[in-house]
Amino acid sequence: MIRIDKFLCDSLGLSRSEAKKAVSSGKVLINDVKVLRPEAKLSEDSDRVVFDGVPVVYERFVYYMLNKPAGVVSANTDSRDRTCIDLLKDEKKKDLSCVGRLDKDTTGLMIITNDGALVHALTAPSKDIFKDYLVSIPKPLTEEQIDSLENGVDINDKMPTKPAFVKIPDDTFASDRDFDRGGDTARIVLSISEGRFHQVKRMLIAVGSKVIDLKRMSIGGLKLDGSLKPGEYRRLTEGEVELLRSISRQS
Ligand code: URA
Repeated sequence: MIRIDKFLCDSLGLSRSEAKKAVSSGKVLINDVKVLRPEAKLSEDSDRVVFDGVPVVYERFVYYMLNKPAGVVSANTDSRDRTCIDLLKDEKKKDLSCVGRLDKDTTGLMIITNDGALVHALTAPSKDIFKDYLVSIPKPLTEEQIDSLENGVDINDKMPTKPAFVKIPDDTFASDRDFDRGGDTARIVLSISEGRFHQVKRMLIAVGSKVIDLKRMSIGGLKLDGSLKPGEYRRLTEGEVELLRSISRQS
């Protein structure tokens, strides 16, 4: 059971005071009966709510996939820069968080949700969830550099990095049009299971290379939708949410 004002907040993104006002104005019906008390309770599964003549479907959690553009930060709020959450126009933004951090100049897959348990499960350091990064670098890596990246490198933290995988980008990655700021002569996909500060950049520096451009392509098998241009976003499908849930349970 849930209070009607909370139901309206969760489902429509109203503030608590807006929801209370909606109820006391007489515009809310539960099972065809007008309610005037914001504290009135209902079952979010079986009761029917109508607000201003429109049925309201209860939705506690929302999940988005954003193609993060460069120049936007992944903090939940920021007094100086635009955040990933600021890009979600006309969406209910209550309690939304980014799943993990990307640097301001890094682009690509960002998951945004108000499902705190899932955020925690996907970002806890104990979880070995692999993220794929498309990395442009000045020149191809040697076998030795690849071995070091894959076995773990010293990036001046307490521990070397965990084993990683270096892959040659397939055609979809190689022809990525948003990933073309020039200056690179080689691209790799680096797959890492940790999320340390500037980790990919520091790993490449540790093996004597450097990152020219960086884009996250996937998290635990959930791939960035290639039809999303930088700054565009969409809801995750039920299948994608289930995929994230199952990944977070496994690891
Ligand atoms: N590694 C980095 O160096 N930067 C990012 O934004 C993500 C991973």
